[in-house]
Amino acid sequence: MAAFRDTFGETPQVVARAPGRVNLIGEHTDYNNGFVLPMALPFDTVIAASPLHNSTDDRAGSTMEVYSEGFGQARFTLSDDPAHTVTWARYVHGTGVMLADAGYEIGPWRGTIATDIPAGASLSSSAALEVATGLVFGALAGIAVEPTEMARLGQRVENEIMGLPSGMLDQLASIGSVAGHATLIDCADLTITPVPMPGDAVIVVLDTGTRRELVESAYADRQASCMAAARALGYDSLRDATLDDIERLDDPVLQARTRHVVTENARTLAAVEALRADDLSVLGVLMNGSHHSLQFDYEVSGPALDAISELARNCTGCFGARMTGGGFAGGAIALVAADKVEAFCHELLERYEPPAEQPPVAPVRLYPAMASAGAGLVA
Ligand code: GLA
Repeated sequence: MAAFRDTFGETPQVVARAPGRVNLIGEHTDYNNGFVLPMALPFDTVIAASPLHNSTDDRAGSTMEVYSEGFGQARFTLSDDPAHTVTWARYVHGTGVMLADAGYEIGPWRGTIATDIPAGASLSSSAALEVATGLVFGALAGIAVEPTEMARLGQRVENEIMGLPSGMLDQLASIGSVAGHATLIDCADLTITPVPMPGDAVIVVLDTGTRRELVESAYADRQASCMAAARALGYDSLRDATLDDIERLDDPVLQARTRHVVTENARTLAAVEALRADDLSVLGVLMNGSHHSLQFDYEVSGPALDAISELARNCTGCFGARMTGGGFAGGAIALVAADKVEAFCHELLERYEPPAEQPPVAPVRLYPAMASAGAGLVA
């Protein structure tokens, strides 16, 4: 708000916020029509904006102006190709392009963006930017875009503009979460079910300070393998596969990828039951099992994620730990008894030694986090 007033000398007409997320369990299942169980974080991206008033009728043709605290300024018109816009602002530009492409009558605006979501830590800062942007476009145009539709448009930005064939986990978590709850999403029909988080446990985000490089190709490769396995089994997606199906596949790599998806879907549903029964020990075991499956069957973990998760499991008050998000680098999470969080963090930071083969490029940081509210308009 203050940044907007300082930059443009007026009060913004709308302010929208969208949180980052962690995924508690259900990893690499979203693009397989499976189950995911994320929660929104108390970190968010906030956009303050006002519409551009100009005399031209060509609303899509007028130049939008956005300022981001950490990244600087970007100017673009919605009728331009987002590929020519600076990378961080491409998410804003791309979201506008997708809304227009879907037939929404949106107009250009100017705005300021601030975020406290650590970038590159697997906390979905890009999805938060897409969702906050969508809310701004919608509010200024007086349009209510359905949450699942908004999430789908954010996914299209990733798929069609950023070239990442991701699912809808990140956007749905940012837009559909409820404070104090984890968010069970059935990615086959996009039903969202809030599941209360126990009050006596805290999720601690473990940012290894490592950042992804060149892993988009690995993500696309996993997605392609899952499609190939589903096709070979005669299914639309691996959602329909069972453990018995695995031996029908000839390729051991496809067998392993399928085993991950089938067992991860089962673990996610079991995790929901554990949450409902307030059984943190079972939830912790499921989280550890998820990490193991991602490390060995799906092969998307990395030395730092393995090391920090392994250490976390041996620190005071921890029920379980695993990588979260796409993998390879970035963040892991630990489920920790609420009254032991301080001791846990202290111990982990003291004992953690980043693996030499994957040194951090940013500080190793821990963030204890409660499940927070999904995106919305603030003003
Ligand atoms: C990234 C993608 C999501 C999801 C996760 C893995 O965060 O953006 O769609 O596939 O990886 O679960």
